Amino acid sequence: PSLISWHRQRVKKYFGSAVDNSELSDQQLLKFLTNKNEFGQITPGNGQKWQYTEPSRGQFSYGSGDQITDFAKKNGQMLRCHTLVWHSQLPSWVSNGQWSRDTLTSVINTHIANEVGHYKGQCYAWDVVNDIYITEALDDDGSYRQSVFSEVLGDTFFAIAFDAAAKADPNAKLYYNDYNLETLGAKQQGAAKIVKLIKSAGKKIDGVGMQAHLIVGQSPSQSTLKSVMQSYLDAGATEVAFTELDIRFPSLPESSQGLEQQAKDFGAVTSACLEVEGCVGITIWGFTDAHSWIPGTFPGTGDALLFDKNYNKKPAYSTVSSIL
Ligand code: XIL
Repeated sequence: PSLISWHRQRVKKYFGSAVDNSELSDQQLLKFLTNKNEFGQITPGNGQKWQYTEPSRGQFSYGSGDQITDFAKKNGQMLRCHTLVWHSQLPSWVSNGQWSRDTLTSVINTHIANEVGHYKGQCYAWDVVNDIYITEALDDDGSYRQSVFSEVLGDTFFAIAFDAAAKADPNAKLYYNDYNLETLGAKQQGAAKIVKLIKSAGKKIDGVGMQAHLIVGQSPSQSTLKSVMQSYLDAGATEVAFTELDIRFPSLPESSQGLEQQAKDFGAVTSACLEVEGCVGITIWGFTDAHSWIPGTFPGTGDALLFDKNYNKKPAYSTVSSIL
């Protein structure tokens, strides 16, 4: 079975992949990625981030984003759109600006109205706020990451951002998306609190996105994943999704035993999503080890995806597709 048998067929869930603009010139990649029976959903890896879409104030530029959204449209794939408010890949005019509450609020409102307006009707979901917690284990206490947004606006920027997104595309599902949300603990509780915070401000939030940048052999169990998802649904989210799944080897090269473990870890995520009704789908952050952000960001680690560098299907592919 191909991955797609999941996509609005046997069960109503999608299976998709992120793709970056530069990858679209790789013919081998295109052979697989254009097949909606394999990948029913696409997320732009970079093109919709603030640094590309509003590089200077009020100057909007959608070339990179559109390249990916047009690609998905042409292939009949659904789209997750990524991302609006994030401390990273932010143009310096935003991060270094001297903002008052009012001026930063207006900057956020303008950015979101413009970008979400531009893509209106095309996005199944938007990652409205991304990566808002401190992530290093020691500091991972559920406090907000320092960013221009939290420094100027405290926690009110959530309501501002979600409100602006809801107004600009009432039909898009609105997500809070973060990493290390896949185990129970301070960060998971913090995420549940954010859902409640946004709802108690009277604003719309639909989903929690678990990025799921996981590590082979240290990946959460199926039952942990299910409890975690349930906690977000209990907090008031109507859905959850795995939005950037990859499961990297902590050291390379991996053994064949390692590849089997990776397959089990991918299988746990897939089965967990299958068994939780509110889990709408899984997006992998690229599908081939030929193109992945992992080695550049976590040197010495890698091979985190379903196909190897030569586009051969790995054991994880077989496991995932057999569950789907
Ligand atoms: C990554 C991209 O894949 C890289 O190409 C880029 O250099 C940095 O960002 N969490 C996110 C994604 O929400 O946007 C990040 O994507 C990976 C971590």
